[in-house]
Amino acid sequence: MLEQERNELLMNVGAETPMGQLLRRYWMPIGAITEFIDKETKPVRLMGEDLVLYKDKSGTFGLVDRHCPHRRADLSYAYVEECGLRCNYHGWLFNEKGDCIGQPFEDTVDPDQKLRETVKIKNYPVEQKGGLLWAYLGPQPAPLVPNFEPFSWKNGFVQIVMTEIPCNWLQCQENSCDPVHFEWMHSNWSSRLVGKSDQIAPKHLVIEFEEFDWGISYKRVREDTDKNHPLWTIGRHCLWPNALYTGDHFEWRVPVDDETTLSVGWFFNRVPNDREPYVQDSIPHWFGPLTDEKTGRWITSHVMNQDFVAWVGQGVRADRTKENLGRSDRGVAMIRKQFLDDLKRIEKGEDPKAIVRDEKSNECIKFPLMGYERMMNGYAREMLEDKENILMRATRSFVFQAGQPDHVKVAYEEALGIKVVDGSRT
Ligand code: FES
Ligand SMILES: [Fe+2]
Repeated sequence: MLEQERNELLMNVGAETPMGQLLRRYWMPIGAITEFIDKETKPVRLMGEDLVLYKDKSGTFGLVDRHCPHRRADLSYAYVEECGLRCNYHGWLFNEKGDCIGQPFEDTVDPDQKLRETVKIKNYPVEQKGGLLWAYLGPQPAPLVPNFEPFSWKNGFVQIVMTEIPCNWLQCQENSCDPVHFEWMHSNWSSRLVGKSDQIAPKHLVIEFEEFDWGISYKRVREDTDKNHPLWTIGRHCLWPNALYTGDHFEWRVPVDDETTLSVGWFFNRVPNDREPYVQDSIPHWFGPLTDEKTGRWITSHVMNQDFVAWVGQGVRADRTKENLGRSDRGVAMIRKQFLDDLKRIEKGEDPKAIVRDEKSNECIKFPLMGYERMMNGYAREMLEDKENILMRATRSFVFQAGQPDHVKVAYEEALGIKVVDGSRT
């Protein structure tokens, strides 16, 4: 349980709030590079700020205020030039550093450009990594975008999936350190959804949480595993401040505002050895649906859709004054404590947890990962085709989110040389 004041403190992300200031110390993924193949601008709401992400004709990305500083027109309807973004109302032109580099009428009547020099648009840096576009809204000097090892993996098919979730970011992130939910939400409930009431998942017997440089790892022993199993020896990782890494994919929970979260998934599938060398030309993205059109209810058929059901079910902003934490929730308590500690650290002028500033340490950020050997060495086609091999289930199909578009499915099939099967849990 958390008292009301702390609950509010941890959830709110506006620029003037303590958590808003803490979260602004980190780079946030806000889109996919391939979104800009067929568009020039994208409206973005990030931590309560309305912005526009754009790619100009020279290939530079910018992130600026949604509203033009002249008379406030909506710059998501602006258009790009060789350099910068031009407002569609009176043609003022801005570059990614926020400078006004053109004011057509003013420039005609006032060659000294006095007004232009006084005008600046709010702007934030954008970086590209792993096929994602990252934004940094915090104080300078900005840290580096963490160069997690999977971004450099070869011979894999990567896809990016985004979905806007109508609830606060913190309850989404608390799910990143919640081992017991796998047994219930993704196993027992999935079985019930297909009418298999006699199918019971192995129980969790022991769970453990360990802090490390990039977050908190959780380890577990189930009825069907022991302490030699990678679920215990390696575990999974709740990454700081708002991600999960499971062995083959990242999930970020990006705060859109106090009541909305952008789920950004980055999924890596190694191709079988007989398809190597494989080089992916560009990383596709898609937007996953939340609601079942037939029933109007949340989609329940895929792993992350099931998580979304839990998150939105906790309310738009979870009321933690009414919860009862047990021993299964120690990871959740650790997340909250770490954020409270980080708030004190930034008050003292120190960096919070998991900030990287040193180029050398950022060359390749490694930590133990489940299934690492397979990611490095690949695997034989027989392994992929062996239906009994449960490890390959998430390779034979896309199990994580409903709604994968055909063009991504086809590209995936071509990359791996397989026909994918339905990834639904149900
Ligand atoms: S409102 Fe943008 S140029 Fe006038
Ligand atoms: Fe889950």
